[in-house]
Amino acid sequence: MNIRDEAVLRELNLHPLWVRRNMPVAEPPHVGRLAATQDIAPAVMPAMAAAPAVSTEQSLPVTERVDWDTLKAQVHDCTACKLRAGCIQTVFGVGDEQADWLFVGEGPGADEDERGEPFVGQAGKLLDNMLAAIKLKRGQNVYIANIVKCRPPNNRTPEADEIATCLPYLQQQIALIQPKLIVALGKTAATSLLGREATLGSFRGSVHDYRGTPLIVTYHPSYLLRSPSEKAKAWQDLLFAVQRMSA
Ligand code: URA
Repeated sequence: MNIRDEAVLRELNLHPLWVRRNMPVAEPPHVGRLAATQDIAPAVMPAMAAAPAVSTEQSLPVTERVDWDTLKAQVHDCTACKLRAGCIQTVFGVGDEQADWLFVGEGPGADEDERGEPFVGQAGKLLDNMLAAIKLKRGQNVYIANIVKCRPPNNRTPEADEIATCLPYLQQQIALIQPKLIVALGKTAATSLLGREATLGSFRGSVHDYRGTPLIVTYHPSYLLRSPSEKAKAWQDLLFAVQRMSA
């Protein structure tokens, strides 16, 4: 194991590794060396792998399809809700515009507002390490976006009207990217994309359907920073996502 892999595992509270003896580990095709750590997760959630897709109905508006440049300009110029008045800039999203993987957070914080890029603060560092744990990298076959593009004051949760106003931008991003899998980070991302309320715990462990694209739910990195003992569950979710992606 190289130093980087070790650092990632340490970040996820999964180091030092132990590997069960006499136990073959199924290696998902593109997980590489870290796949051996599958064995260290408390359980690999066989129930998850077998979980049926949960289909949900979206009642969200579908706006006319636009191209990337038009969409970026629309977001840049947007003043449609009260959030814009309190932030420095809009935070559009970042990454490979043809990515297979789309990670969706809640909304920009202070660091993101300053830099104009999602997940660049402490939560972003953890997200980068979560990506690295499954051999992914920001910008390489990965796109990262948020439910709302403007920073809510004092990092509060975006309100329903703010989400409803901003969500069509993300819907357009998804339509343009056409990811193979969406990973919703936290409850706000999950409920906004799936159009229904539930606990994060009950969203986990199923493949949901976002307009024909599989969607799985895991913890928000900010929550994991506050509750590091939950990182093992996030690791299970990441492995589940890798399994789903290679299915
Ligand atoms: N939290 C989010 O949900 N998104 C970010 O971009 C940063 C922190």
